[in-house]
Amino acid sequence: MVAYKSKVVERIQLPSRERRATALEEAGYNVFELSADDVFIDLLTDSGTGAMSDDQWAALMRGDEAYAGSSSFDRLESAVADVMGFEHVVPTHQGRGAENVLYGTLLSEGDVALNNTHFDTTRAHVSNQGADPVDCPVPAAHDPEANEPFKGNFSLERARAVVDEVGAERVPLVILTVTNNSAAGQPVSVENTRRVRAFADEIDAAFVIDACRFAENASFVTRREDEYADATVAEVAREQLGYADALVMSGKKDGLVNVGGFVATDDEELFERCKQRAILYEGFPTYGGMAGRDVAAMAVGLREAVEESYVEDRVEQVRELGAMLEEAGLPVYEPVGGHAVYLDAGATFPGIPADEFPGQALVCELYREGGVRGVELGSFAFPETDRPELVRLAVPRRTYHREHFEHVVETAAAVLERREEVSGLEIVSDPAVPELRHFSAALEPVSAEAPTAVDGGLE
Ligand code: F0G
Repeated sequence: MVAYKSKVVERIQLPSRERRATALEEAGYNVFELSADDVFIDLLTDSGTGAMSDDQWAALMRGDEAYAGSSSFDRLESAVADVMGFEHVVPTHQGRGAENVLYGTLLSEGDVALNNTHFDTTRAHVSNQGADPVDCPVPAAHDPEANEPFKGNFSLERARAVVDEVGAERVPLVILTVTNNSAAGQPVSVENTRRVRAFADEIDAAFVIDACRFAENASFVTRREDEYADATVAEVAREQLGYADALVMSGKKDGLVNVGGFVATDDEELFERCKQRAILYEGFPTYGGMAGRDVAAMAVGLREAVEESYVEDRVEQVRELGAMLEEAGLPVYEPVGGHAVYLDAGATFPGIPADEFPGQALVCELYREGGVRGVELGSFAFPETDRPELVRLAVPRRTYHREHFEHVVETAAAVLERREEVSGLEIVSDPAVPELRHFSAALEPVSAEAPTAVDGGLE
């Protein structure tokens, strides 16, 4: 059931076929390099791209811009306490700022961090501390067809094998990412969270939850975990997050804002250490790199994120896009996750080998065909890891409607129709940080017969 109506609108337009082809070429076949003006439906990310509510816009006007002791920070503290159950908050400019603050505090050279799956900035921050990020997804996570309820779970079996190999003293940190963004936005059960808590205690490690999409995760728990069938999203969120020693949060997801993040903890000593590092990298600990007004909007957003009507509508909308794409014959990762529909590009283009990036080819064709921007999360984004060739169509919160989705489905169906003509890609310029290469590497089609300006495409 839809839970909002529009009060402000933003014009969008579909550029011509010729313009789309030229823009793609100019962008080096990397959609991060496109101008957003050349994009019609932008499903690159659900991060910071959603619409704020009228209450959040009102809060912006009341933002307190004091350098120290801002009352907007007091509102954030009280929202984090009420919604997430943590007493201390260190605000940061966005999620990766929180990662730098927390992981820079908890990790040292030679350490190992375990995570159900490291998101790319998480992996890069762990590596940046000289530590080794090791993923522990459950086996079903990388099977696009396994229809299981909690494919985002953390594999304790895998984690134990790593600890046996490297020794518990090298593993000071266990992270649980809810939902598991790099495993198709799949949820994590509360039961698994409890077991990860016990495991972290067993090896004497800190237990951190990456809570970016905590409300969507809690919604899945109420739908799929019997024990919580009668619980509210707000109740599940508090319980699940409560198992952690600390949270890293990007407000750009379930904080329902365009910028912001924080670390939250009940541990006094950890709080003090994070605060000191935050002053160095983010700002004074009552603004943390945000404007006071942004802090105020995030305080409201966190509360809205656990409202039943909001989160049900959100998860249902993403599910509906998945069902529409599946009906049009696209191979969709099953079941559909919380913030995005993931297409299986390996199954879409069986003729394109992994080293020619079938996912990136699909991303480029969706743009060429209909001005739709998604993102590759396969061999291009995650070199040297063994994962399916996925393309993520992330749905910004409270932004698009069924008509937009109909265009996306029509576009994807047209690409599928001419799949035989689609060429793989090769990298022609590679940036220095391998974990982040997909943001700026330039590519070229492998085959000269790749579709050019006027082949196919919706008007
Ligand atoms: N952790 C997870 C699980 C994320 O998905 C992200 C961001 C971050 C940390 C970092 O947060 O962007 O505020 O610095 N994910 C975005 C995405 C970028 O598109 O999935 P940030």
